[in-house]
Amino acid sequence: MKELESLIFAVETSCDETAISIVKTRVAPASVCVLAHLVESQTESHAPFGGVVPEIASRDHLAKIHQLATQALQNANIQPSEIGAVAVTMGPGLIGALMVGILFARGFALSLGVPLLAVNHVDAHLAPALLLRDFSSACLGEWHDISLPPLPALTLTVSGGHCHLGMLTGNVTNKIILGKSLDDACGEAFDKVAKLLGLGYPGGPLIERLAKVVQGEPNPYVFPHKIADKSQRYAFSYSGLKTAVMHVVRQELGIKQGKIEGHALPLEKKQMIASAFQEAALAQLLDRVRNALSDHPEIASVVVAGGVAQNQRFRELFATLEKPLFFAPKELCSDNATMIALWALYGPKQDGFSIQPYSRYEL
Ligand code: KG4
Ligand code: ZN
Repeated sequence: MKELESLIFAVETSCDETAISIVKTRVAPASVCVLAHLVESQTESHAPFGGVVPEIASRDHLAKIHQLATQALQNANIQPSEIGAVAVTMGPGLIGALMVGILFARGFALSLGVPLLAVNHVDAHLAPALLLRDFSSACLGEWHDISLPPLPALTLTVSGGHCHLGMLTGNVTNKIILGKSLDDACGEAFDKVAKLLGLGYPGGPLIERLAKVVQGEPNPYVFPHKIADKSQRYAFSYSGLKTAVMHVVRQELGIKQGKIEGHALPLEKKQMIASAFQEAALAQLLDRVRNALSDHPEIASVVVAGGVAQNQRFRELFATLEKPLFFAPKELCSDNATMIALWALYGPKQDGFSIQPYSRYEL
């Protein structure tokens, strides 16, 4: 095996971003340097459908991955023979999309005679918040010293596929899961509500933009954020909230059944509904975090990551917590391969040849 901690080539294709990164590490002082960070979004291909179409995602990854890998090697200005390991997202994700990345990474690792490292996508989202908070793609090639947040840390990953509350105890690899999504994930709810309002895809940034206009104004709409079952202190559920929004939109449009043409709503109503939805969606996250902090007074910091963590209102609300707060840098909140490289380097080690891709239900 070549020097594992020298140069790692990482691949991410779990959903609708094809991403390749090349990351270099130094042991003393503990630091990382991102040499290449490429993310090709498929947003335009999926936008007409208001959500990700798995078949389109797989084909798009297949069409792009080789060229993107070649480009990453050029950007990093390295030869393949310098690579010490290949890391790849093993799941959870769309099976066809995952297979494109996994088979590409497997073939590449085999041809180089280097290890293939399997990475859990949801855990990997935390890596930038833990290890690379000052990243910006404008500073590729610069060394960043690693300084972990104080442990034990409460971790919250909020993405399009998952909400995950956990606790890192002794070190980065020692994670206890406290709670997960019971149904729709938070980002998925943003996307579905955006579709109801006729806004487009991905919904998160569009809802945020509409909500911002009326933030702080009296709002006629109020949506619940509590789960009925009080024993679920750490679990996340967004399907009820989404349905509540759907009922309000139907009521406003005066239709009981049939297709919802939310784009026909007056702009101010859309803004108010978007804002009320966003407040309820984020209040649920804050509520679960507060529950965990009150049950575990030993928690020394809160670490937040995932696509939804780009939301500015989210960041404002979480700033009210009394614990030190560590967000992933905005550029590394959405799916990318730099987080995959970092987790492969610093997270639990798994040999990619021995495990299978897994689904969102097997985290
Ligand atoms: O982590 P991510 O890139 O992909 C998954 O692993 O799922 O998250 C994508 C999700 C989408 O649902 C998108 O609507 C949401 O993150 N998102 C946001 C914002 N930006 C992206 N949600 C709320 N506010 C945002 N500004
Ligand atoms: Zn993700």
